[in-house]
Amino acid sequence: MNKPLNGIKIIDFTHVQAGPACTQLLAWFGADVIKVERPGAGDVTRSQLRDIPDVDALYFTMLNSNKRSLTLDTKKPEGKAVLEKLIKESDVLVENFGPGALDRMGFTWERIQELNPKMILASVKGFSDGHEYEDLKVYENVAQCAGGAASTTGWWKGEESGPMISAAALGDSNTGMHLAIGILTAYIGRQQTGKGQKVAVAMQDAVLNLCRVKMRDQLRLDKLGYLEEYPQYPHESFSDVVPRGGNAGGGGQPGWILKCKGWETDPNAYIYFTVQGHAWPPICDAIGKPEWKTDPLYMTPKARQPHIMDIFATIEDWLKDKTKFDAVNILRKFDIPCAPVFSMKELLNDKSLRASGSIVEVPHKERGSYWTVGSPIKFSDLKPIITGSPLLGENTDEVLAELGYSSAEIAAMHDAKAV
Ligand code: COA
Repeated sequence: MNKPLNGIKIIDFTHVQAGPACTQLLAWFGADVIKVERPGAGDVTRSQLRDIPDVDALYFTMLNSNKRSLTLDTKKPEGKAVLEKLIKESDVLVENFGPGALDRMGFTWERIQELNPKMILASVKGFSDGHEYEDLKVYENVAQCAGGAASTTGWWKGEESGPMISAAALGDSNTGMHLAIGILTAYIGRQQTGKGQKVAVAMQDAVLNLCRVKMRDQLRLDKLGYLEEYPQYPHESFSDVVPRGGNAGGGGQPGWILKCKGWETDPNAYIYFTVQGHAWPPICDAIGKPEWKTDPLYMTPKARQPHIMDIFATIEDWLKDKTKFDAVNILRKFDIPCAPVFSMKELLNDKSLRASGSIVEVPHKERGSYWTVGSPIKFSDLKPIITGSPLLGENTDEVLAELGYSSAEIAAMHDAKAV
């Protein structure tokens, strides 16, 4: 099978989620990704949230498949020397340490360029270079707050009305995906110029990039003083900042999460229902309200908006004897954009996702096989085979030998606890 990134050698100096998600993606598509980890400890996620004692946690295995693991103490001279050799022979170095850590280790961008002018250095940080918060260490939820997602997610009134974090890794994996695009762009650029370059993605920027429509809404609010698609319109007042909109549709189509049969006991017995403007007649037919098609109070989006929540309540009434699956099976015949609210359990066992490779079973030397999320990107000529994550230092001797170290030199490095 064609693996387009075959031949690209990546030093994966990443940890936790943002960096590993990036390099895992590149490994799936054929890059040789060598994960550099501290001897004895490794990536902190190896031991975080373990479900089996003394075995690499799923947190690690699900973000580090298809890689090799090299242990290296890069603060010791022997370790630094190995890293220097690796830099000379690799195409990309990816890191997501706290600000300044790589410099403190002695690997400034200037030094890396001296070692290998073709090197692409790819970094994730919480904030961009020169930002007033550039010195901060950042985790997922911090980034969601800094990038605008938290202030615009959640409820605008009631006890639970504060800023809300999304469960989706908007700060971590999302930043990693942005970085992967940056790396591939720099790689193609290098084919044209022969030179490497530094690629950086700040988690704040990557979150903000996904919150573009909320920035759009701020600009509209500044001009108009109201946002007609938000549930606050027209009965409540707007301040000068984009409010949280609950489950409202973010675009021009009103939408909401609606209860289905069984919601009292099943926390996910819901669907998302979208009211596309041009699909109003089929919606009326689907929910048994044909008279709404010609009623001036319902005929146009503008007429519907003041009582859109009442319309959703009527649809919910129609849904009360239908499971989320029944409902979608009816609504799909009317071409209405909708979907069940799937739980993680349902997704894990979903036949379609397993058939497409979006959920895959992966072997692991110590934990046996486990299910994980496969490539969300599908190609006509590449079906990524997801392999197990490496054990800590599993490939140390092999990588050192490839770099030209003799068995005696490798043994000495082990004795010095440099690997
Ligand atoms: N050998 C020797 N030392 C190593 C090493 C190795 N193989 N790998 C890492 N280290 C050292 C680093 O040099 C650093 O040392 P220093 O601080 O003395 O210079 C140290 O380990 C810790 O690095 P740091 O990244 O700051 O770890 P942390 O656990 O304190 O912080 C984060 C974790 C995620 C908050 C921080 O790395 C960060 O802000 N990263 C950037 C943003 C990011 O990616 N966040 C999302 C993570 S999902």
